[in-house]
Amino acid sequence: MAYDVAVLIGSLRKESLTRQLVLALQKIAPPGLKLRIVEIGDLPHFNADHEASPPPEVTAFKQSIEKADAVLFATPEYNRSVPGVLKNAIDVGSRPYGKSVWNGKPAAVISISQGVLSGFGANHHLRQSLVFLNMPTLQQPEAYIAQVQTLLDGKGGFVKPETKAFLESILKAFEAWIGKVKG
Ligand code: FNR
Repeated sequence: MAYDVAVLIGSLRKESLTRQLVLALQKIAPPGLKLRIVEIGDLPHFNADHEASPPPEVTAFKQSIEKADAVLFATPEYNRSVPGVLKNAIDVGSRPYGKSVWNGKPAAVISISQGVLSGFGANHHLRQSLVFLNMPTLQQPEAYIAQVQTLLDGKGGFVKPETKAFLESILKAFEAWIGKVKG
């Protein structure tokens, strides 16, 4: 049985390069990993007043994460940090206190940029939250994808075999990491 990996994408726009990268990753994932995109764009802003009677989108989202074996975060950087939409999804899943859907789930982070900085700020601000949320997160190899627009071929694949090989190695390491965490 393949591990069910919930994939959260930190960009909502239709032509998102992050989403294009995730779609390409789905094609090269090893047989042991099923990458399942969980949409976060329709989640309401986190509001603790909703906890007693959560909106249906929140309940569905939490169930979707709960059933996953692991979580892959793929994100661009906004203003040197995590895009609000992704942080909101993390906050929504983390409450009520003591009932976080993230607790103990193995995770990995892939950050992207169109420039040369590769979303490092977003990647590491995200990791700060994942520490608190008790998500054992793949440390090596790290996945900082700079100038992503030059790496995607526009047809769902990669321009260079080296990029494909690198991302395959990330996914294989994540598969092994999930196995280790789940025991
Ligand atoms: C950006 N962008 C950006 N890029 C970066 O490398 N560091 C940054 O801090 C920011 N900040 C930022 C803020 C906001 C509000 C926007 C809209 C954009 C550029 C951004 O990462 C780039 O447009 C990515 O291509 C967005 O990802 P998607 O939508 O292509 O997946």
